[in-house]
Amino acid sequence: MEERASVKEHTTMASANDSKWQKDAADQNFDYMFKLLIIGNSSVGKTSFLFRYADDSFTSAFVSTVGIDFKVKTVFRQDKRVKLQIWDTAGQERYRTITTAYYRGAMGFILMYDVTNEESFNAVMDWCTQIKTHAWSNCCVCLVGNKCDMEASREVSTRQGQELASELGLEFFETSAKENINVKAVFERLVDIICDKMSESLDQDPSLVNSQTKGTRLTENTAPEGGSCQC
Ligand code: GTP
Ligand code: MG
Repeated sequence: MEERASVKEHTTMASANDSKWQKDAADQNFDYMFKLLIIGNSSVGKTSFLFRYADDSFTSAFVSTVGIDFKVKTVFRQDKRVKLQIWDTAGQERYRTITTAYYRGAMGFILMYDVTNEESFNAVMDWCTQIKTHAWSNCCVCLVGNKCDMEASREVSTRQGQELASELGLEFFETSAKENINVKAVFERLVDIICDKMSESLDQDPSLVNSQTKGTRLTENTAPEGGSCQC
């Protein structure tokens, strides 16, 4: 197993010469900016999931993430231009101190396990504890069982995933980064839930909106209050 080179804070997986990334990252024309994190055991497919979503690419090679990386993607949801800052964390235990430092300010989490690896499913509760300890109590969490294309090697049934998600009050999806199953749906659902919570917050406190400008940048300083999707 190879390891991806360390990436320091405020740099990205994309090369500095990647003009598309530069354009996305520098683009200030958005209504909301959401910080999302992908967490879960090593090798469950977090990096592959993000690459599929952001670049529509997939590789079978396993290059374990060192520390943390991020990608930026702008999407349109509910008539809003939403800039997503998506952080891909290393699943290996030795990076836990670094990665949990990034939980603060995250509005949404994709908590991933591998349906062909029971150990990664059994670790979900531990990951929830990490969220409870280090993140906002009202952040949104989606439980994602990845690698659903590998039916023959499955160790965790869909029903087990659904039951755990329902017990924890989380949204649930089974996905495949390889076959591009439900990848976009997970992000869309997460963004929709956060947008709904934003609208609720703005209804309760309209002063959050600056009427002089097209929209308000709702970042980590203006977290939504109260929500239904929590660990
Ligand atoms: P860490 O960076 O160590 O935390 O791992 P990770 O969760 O980022 O895993 P990564 O995305 O690097 O994927 C691990 C391995 O699983 C790679 O060999 C991927 O090609 C493979 N993989 C990821 N997603 C899928 C999937 O949906 N289906 C299949 N069949 N393989 C996948
Ligand atoms: Mg990775």
